[in-house]
Amino acid sequence: MPAPKSPHSVWHHATVTRARRERQNGHPGAVVWFTGLSGSGKSTLAHAVEEQLHARGCRTFVCDGDNIRHGLCGDLGFSDADRAENIRRIGHLAKLFVESGAIVLTAFISPFREDRRRARMSVDRAADFIEVFCDCPLTVCEQRDIKGLYRRARNNQIADFTGISSPYETPQHPDLTVQTGARSVAECAREVLAMLESRGIAPRGENV
Ligand code: ADX
Repeated sequence: MPAPKSPHSVWHHATVTRARRERQNGHPGAVVWFTGLSGSGKSTLAHAVEEQLHARGCRTFVCDGDNIRHGLCGDLGFSDADRAENIRRIGHLAKLFVESGAIVLTAFISPFREDRRRARMSVDRAADFIEVFCDCPLTVCEQRDIKGLYRRARNNQIADFTGISSPYETPQHPDLTVQTGARSVAECAREVLAMLESRGIAPRGENV
């Protein structure tokens, strides 16, 4: 990571702490980090899980790659270095959300293991970072091709496209793998919710 360009800034500690916010919210803050190919269902699943958490009274927010690239990361492209910077920024953004006591659900391809490891490390307690691998075969993503990007990548109209001309490094030890290519969104969301319940992050409840 490059050296900070503001070496004389001094950290100001909050008096309303993470612990106080969590007590008020009734649940801990956490990052649920969805990773997988474009079109593997990360955003859809993140929003489905958020709906369930919201119905249980949790403070939540979804950060989605396509949306963040319109603003905060609008200056970045898809080279390896730009993807690393994209994920570095999101790691820090996620940390702020956790400090705020929220459960933040991130949906980024985040194709590189090292970038995902660093994002985990940017959160105070590594256990607050839950990596969910959206396991959907490239053939299925390409068949769906919801945004028409795979077709354009195959026609050499988009460079460095994940799965086609840029690598995706499959997680070796994700906290959870969901078969988003084979199972319904509702089934996958139930699996994520069950895992969040078992870790004491989501309050127990019926899915709506
Ligand atoms: S990441 O690799 O840096 O994590 P991110 O999740 O922010 O990627 O953005 C991925 C989204 O950008 C894709 O879902 C797709 O809509 C769009 N996109 C545009 N160009 C590319 C590309 N070359 N590779 C992958 N996705 C791309």
